[in-house]
Amino acid sequence: MRVHIVESYEELSTKAASIVSSQVILKPNSVLGLATGSTPEGMYRNLVQLYKRDLIDFSEVISFNLDEYIGLDANHQQSYTSYMFNNLFNHVNFKEEHINIPIEAEDKLQEFCLKYDKKIERAGGIDLQVLGIGTNGHIGFNEPDNKLKTGTHIVDLAEETIEANSRFFNSKEEVPKQAVSMGMSSIMGSKKILLLASGENKAEAIKNTINGKITTEVPSSLLQLHPDVTIVVDKAAAKLI
Ligand code: GLP
Repeated sequence: MRVHIVESYEELSTKAASIVSSQVILKPNSVLGLATGSTPEGMYRNLVQLYKRDLIDFSEVISFNLDEYIGLDANHQQSYTSYMFNNLFNHVNFKEEHINIPIEAEDKLQEFCLKYDKKIERAGGIDLQVLGIGTNGHIGFNEPDNKLKTGTHIVDLAEETIEANSRFFNSKEEVPKQAVSMGMSSIMGSKKILLLASGENKAEAIKNTINGKITTEVPSSLLQLHPDVTIVVDKAAAKLI
């Protein structure tokens, strides 16, 4: 694992965008695994700026998003679909057919999950997977458990995650209780992984990711087994390492 400790959220965002843009410049038809949450917002802002300055071209890039809530319309302000269009896709030249987000009518979800994994496989797997991290060490929506799922699957969100994500909704009751998430095998099968964390509330999770015991109870600790992980953290998130 390569760990970069940076001074601020701004520096984290610039560094993350430069890692993603290097990937795309070196391989214009890269397959990117994309994450949502507040942490990568600054990275997306920087990528949009690089695009506007003609320094990056997304026309051949294929993207697969990590996760999406179940039960929220794609147009809902807090859906990860809206997030991705508002933060990136509406501002750069991604081709619509290259964008993949795990959302489907609820009655077809099981079937959809299998198709999502097949589609990632057919695209040649993920070249660079961007990850945020939950305060409990979840990645995507792979929540701490005594076993983890390999493929894309339906998840019951942990109480801690519902609590943490309630800041985006009017009340905790409005937070969806389920989501679809890529499983550990698509994440761990990515050629490169870029994990971002900012703020003191992520310090414990980052400590457990880097120095903790490898356990499904901290899904991010499994990243210790991956050969090419870059972690970019600001000082606050690096407080316990
Ligand atoms: C969410 C997402 C994760 C994200 C995490 C942290 O629940 N499913 O993909 O990494 O929480 O989010 P934030 O960056 O807002 O702290």
